Amino acid sequence: MALRYVIGVDIGTSGTKTILFDETGDVIASATVEYPLYHPHNGYAEQDPTDWWDATVRTIQSVMAQSGVPADSVKGVGLSGQMHGLVMLDAQNEVIRRSIIWCDQRTAKECEEITQKVGARRLIEITANPALTGFTASKILWVKNHEPENYAKCRHILLPKDYIRFMLTGEYATEVSDASGMQLLDIPRRCWSDEVLEKLEIDKNLLGTVYESPEVTGRITKEASLLTGLAEGTIVVGGAGDNAAAAVGTGVVRDGKAFTTIGTSGVVFAHTSDIAIDPKGRVHTFCCAVPGCWHVMGVTQGAGLSLKWFRDNFCGAEQETAVQMGVDPYYLMDKEADTVPVGANRLLYLPYMMGERTPHLDPDARGVFFGLTAMHTKKDMLRAILEGVSYSLRDCIEIFREMDISVDDMMACGGGGTSPLWRQMLADLYACPVKTSASKEGPSLGVALLAMVGAGIYPTVQAACDAVIREDKVQPPCEENIPQYEKYYQMYRSLYPALKDSYKALAALGE
Ligand code: XUL
Repeated sequence: MALRYVIGVDIGTSGTKTILFDETGDVIASATVEYPLYHPHNGYAEQDPTDWWDATVRTIQSVMAQSGVPADSVKGVGLSGQMHGLVMLDAQNEVIRRSIIWCDQRTAKECEEITQKVGARRLIEITANPALTGFTASKILWVKNHEPENYAKCRHILLPKDYIRFMLTGEYATEVSDASGMQLLDIPRRCWSDEVLEKLEIDKNLLGTVYESPEVTGRITKEASLLTGLAEGTIVVGGAGDNAAAAVGTGVVRDGKAFTTIGTSGVVFAHTSDIAIDPKGRVHTFCCAVPGCWHVMGVTQGAGLSLKWFRDNFCGAEQETAVQMGVDPYYLMDKEADTVPVGANRLLYLPYMMGERTPHLDPDARGVFFGLTAMHTKKDMLRAILEGVSYSLRDCIEIFREMDISVDDMMACGGGGTSPLWRQMLADLYACPVKTSASKEGPSLGVALLAMVGAGIYPTVQAACDAVIREDKVQPPCEENIPQYEKYYQMYRSLYPALKDSYKALAALGE
């Protein structure tokens, strides 16, 4: 039988990456197009949905041209992308205003409004999360409150990747994993919540049809076919939000399985076949891309960001040497940190440079080096940063444990996941082996696998993962490090409560 192919499109914040895979999960062709992020005011973050569409068209054209694969051999398309962003279309399906995206922080007042209208407890019961500035509902209310003329024109509300689906297929649709981040979905029942929509006075007709992630949601239209080079009628499956997609792409599709990703922020994600909600809202509970299952997800805001900040401000020498040696400066920084013992000679780092989501939900929290003495050097500080980020990721695991979610299989991904030292710290702090996947294409591969399921190449998401995902390196915990790290982790945990009020006072100094 002729080889079959699928396409995964990942509409990220810095750019859109499209990959053409064959049915064994091998990358045949890949293309990325970047676009701007606008900050019209402090704390605002917007992108232009037409940039996402242009990038999607150009990257699909590119992978089709590079590969020479005939269009009718491409059996399906999967869409992934940044979650939470608000796209509004008018009656002519034109974009009304730039999308207010996930990291925009303008909606604190609207979050209060949501909590007050729905009730704090009821909101967590239905949407599995407290009102959060990042989520879509508060962005919708912001437009309603501040731009009533735009709201009046709005006929359709879509998430970023679902706008691309509309442009490809003409369908107004979403799927459960991404819809979970809108704060309008009944997470236990996997459908729009009439109660929340009524209380917030948002018309349900504005929202798309909700599918499970591997379901077929539409087909490539003639117009999209002419633009992209895909065959008219090619199926487009639901796909998934970026983290749910990365889970499929790393094989995290069964109980006990989890992944940690260290990018700018850090995420610890665990699959659960029974719904589990933290009543304090410290971790997100979302529907996952495996039909009928959920995931819990802890987010630490300043993970890779802390190391990048240190590199850019203090590691000029490493950066110069790295150029001469033709290696990544992070590789040299890792080697330096590796010469320092566990505990960084009694130096601790709190990675709260951008406030913190899990476990503190505190936008005022800030970064701290604790225990500095004149004997410490840059190497100790480097090690303390790697350890501090690892402690904050362990905080997510602690909440999972409180919720009775056990994790015995941990994948590592993202830029930080390529560091053997960082992976070892995670293994020692989680007390479980930390593995990497042979493929580095998490989200795109994840939605490509969903497209394979939608196209009937594999019967289930788990079967697709079993056939395609291969583990690469495995790092077991080092028994002798575990009690050492435990001591420092307990010290780390004692620092935030001691500083909480001072963080608030520090923030007030800027008012
Ligand atoms: C998830 C989140 C990010 C975005 C952007 O809650 O805010 O992962 O999806 O990547």
